[in-house]
Amino acid sequence: MKIYVTRRIPEAATEFLTDHEVQIYDANHPIPRSLLREKIADADALISLLSDWIDAEMLDAAPKLKVIANYAVGYDNVDVDAATKRGIVVTNTPDVLTDATAELAWALMFAAARRIGEGERFTRAGEFNGWGPQLMLGQGIREKTLGIIGAGRIGTRFALGSRGFDMKVLYYDSERNETLEQELNAKKVDISYLLHASDFVSVHLPLTKDTKHLLDAHQLFRMKPTAVIVNTSRGAVIDEKALIAILKAGKIAGAGLDVYEWEPDISREFFEIDNVVLAPHIGSATYQARGAMAELCAGAVLKVFAGELPPNIVNRDVWVNRRP
Ligand code: DGY
Repeated sequence: MKIYVTRRIPEAATEFLTDHEVQIYDANHPIPRSLLREKIADADALISLLSDWIDAEMLDAAPKLKVIANYAVGYDNVDVDAATKRGIVVTNTPDVLTDATAELAWALMFAAARRIGEGERFTRAGEFNGWGPQLMLGQGIREKTLGIIGAGRIGTRFALGSRGFDMKVLYYDSERNETLEQELNAKKVDISYLLHASDFVSVHLPLTKDTKHLLDAHQLFRMKPTAVIVNTSRGAVIDEKALIAILKAGKIAGAGLDVYEWEPDISREFFEIDNVVLAPHIGSATYQARGAMAELCAGAVLKVFAGELPPNIVNRDVWVNRRP
């Protein structure tokens, strides 16, 4: 079978695939769309990245494709309906990156609350000339209110991390989260109340047509002037222009972002704003998570080739009508 991988990923993936013909786009940037169209023309499997846009047009160029193993937990870059219509299985990489992403969300939250990015730039610029009683004051975290938008795997893990800081936890999700309610006495609330009442807000929703710009100007304006918002999910869940306006106007204390609405582009205005910490979409970027993600992708491809249902399939409906 032919497997096309759109970027070099940890060896774990290719080690499992030695019985097959594996081709890799070995560059340090996303594969150009025209090249990907060419490459998948005779591929049986594709291991794609979240930066590859796999839509109906792309799938029409892949008549033999049986499985797309997306090297990410989020799969908004794949038109899953179009894949299902064509009998193509789509899988993702849940669970193995939960800790890594939740940890990064905490790192961004601390960094934004305590102005680490700003302080680092200041120190490197040689501007530090001694301890100052008013220097870089930030927001304390202990016993504050933490608002979780999206209490799935990563949102839950992130929220459980608040135990060491005795925080009051609110969450917004379509489903009740009994773990959070039992372990943290968390309260399920609507999003408007969450934004209004939280000192720290962390976004953990997948990007869908319903969640796009869920946090628009109207919602963001509900936040406290001392609040900090963190996003490690997908940029477009927040209206990026509105967030920029709010940060520029000093209507919230800060933001910690790992994701951007128009990736790989990033709004230049962010570079002019001091109270935003910018990470380069590294939520899952630990050696442990990335290795395990590679294994999951390889495992999913092999399962599909063997006619077995991969546990991490996202379009289960396809299974009975999948491509032979
Ligand atoms: C994912 O896997 O969807 C994450 O965004 C990676 O950091």
